[in-house]
Amino acid sequence: MQTGSVHEHWSSRGGFIMAAVGSAVGLGNIWRFPYVAGESGGGAFMLVYLGAILLVGAPILIAELMIGRRGQMSPINSYRKVAEDHGYSPGWKWAGALGMLTAVIILSFYSVIGGWALTFLFETLSGSLSGMDAAASSEHFDDMLSKPVSMAIWHFVFMAVTVWVVARGIKGGIEKAATLLMPALFVLLLVIVGYAVFAGDFGRAMAFLFMPDFSKITGEVLVNALGQAFFTLSLGMGAMLTYGAYLSRDISIPRAAGIIVGADSLVAILAGVAIFPIVFASGLEPSAGPGLVFITLPIAFASMPGGVIVGSLFFALLLFAAITSSISILEPLVSWLEEHKGVQRAKVAVISGAGIWAVGLLSVLGYNELSHVHPLAFVESLADKDILDSFDYVSANLFLPLGGMAAALFAGWIMSRDTVLEELGVEEGWLFHIWRILARFVAPAAVAWVLYESIGG
Ligand code: PHE
Repeated sequence: MQTGSVHEHWSSRGGFIMAAVGSAVGLGNIWRFPYVAGESGGGAFMLVYLGAILLVGAPILIAELMIGRRGQMSPINSYRKVAEDHGYSPGWKWAGALGMLTAVIILSFYSVIGGWALTFLFETLSGSLSGMDAAASSEHFDDMLSKPVSMAIWHFVFMAVTVWVVARGIKGGIEKAATLLMPALFVLLLVIVGYAVFAGDFGRAMAFLFMPDFSKITGEVLVNALGQAFFTLSLGMGAMLTYGAYLSRDISIPRAAGIIVGADSLVAILAGVAIFPIVFASGLEPSAGPGLVFITLPIAFASMPGGVIVGSLFFALLLFAAITSSISILEPLVSWLEEHKGVQRAKVAVISGAGIWAVGLLSVLGYNELSHVHPLAFVESLADKDILDSFDYVSANLFLPLGGMAAALFAGWIMSRDTVLEELGVEEGWLFHIWRILARFVAPAAVAWVLYESIGG
């Protein structure tokens, strides 16, 4: 069934796993997870989040990989082709198109945050962050946000690297680099956790993260947890679907999904355990918002022995994790454009990157020239969100869940039992039945319910 694909395939099983884990593990785990958990009250959020990962995220991850491998093409064309193969309407391609729109929005602000990480890397290397206390660190962060030109430049550099990797095709470099650097990020995160355990307020952090206060589970917490589950697993916009399209038949999708979910959750939890002890010990607020990691970690690096080295390494690896994710946000779009006759990969990568960079300028300006703009002001609880925050909120909490719901419904109801069994690589048994119940009923219903709750609330 692999005829007709215009796309390269992964070089090996390990190469695919590393690329997919690289897509999942990124700013979503280290930047987004702690700040969203902090805003949503900690433990109650954690519980819902982990539930969402297992009951909604994992089955949809499997669904996307299956649709992609079946279709062997970009999301738009895979949906269309697999629907037609099963005698259904090609109109399913709109599920893929929604994903492309979501990708543009997400990459536009993701690259701005990537630019922040670059800024911090160079500042840490130059020693200019040494010796900062909590107040100085907050001030330093605000200072960065007040300078649109330098932010736009770093955002450009991040985007340029993303485009460069995507333009080259993802096989050689990214697979190999991911294999080497993802484990290094993990080890470094452990070092920071070690520091946080001894130097931070570990007890309070543990209580905050792992003692759920059920009264705090509101519609807002549900929607945040669900959105984070989609964002962190790269689901709902066709990234995993596209990676699935480059997958050869001999790889077990359920097993790959298990590894991706496990690694991603572990990194997120470690990031939380690294950051919250420092938050509490420095008298900062867990609900500080998108700046949380960029304010707390420099405080830790400033006071730990060898902080310049640990700090520089950390930001370098964070950057790497971000790049292995950002390429997976750009890739579906490029892979779709590439399916048109006479189109060159490098050219469309550059053009898409440039356009998305321009969209990202809105996020940059939202912290200074356009700081009076609050796009979600018509919703009372979201009225103070700036432009970046609003893009982030709407794409993760609305668009990704809708896109994921489409993938679940498609794999659950449109793809036949035989197709599914073939893609899962199993005989009909418990795995098939559990997956199918989750994909057909549980995941779509959970998304519908949470969206309904959040609109009602
Ligand atoms: N999962 C990535 C992260 O956690 C972000 C991402 C979202 C990547 C959507 C692809 C698609 O950083």
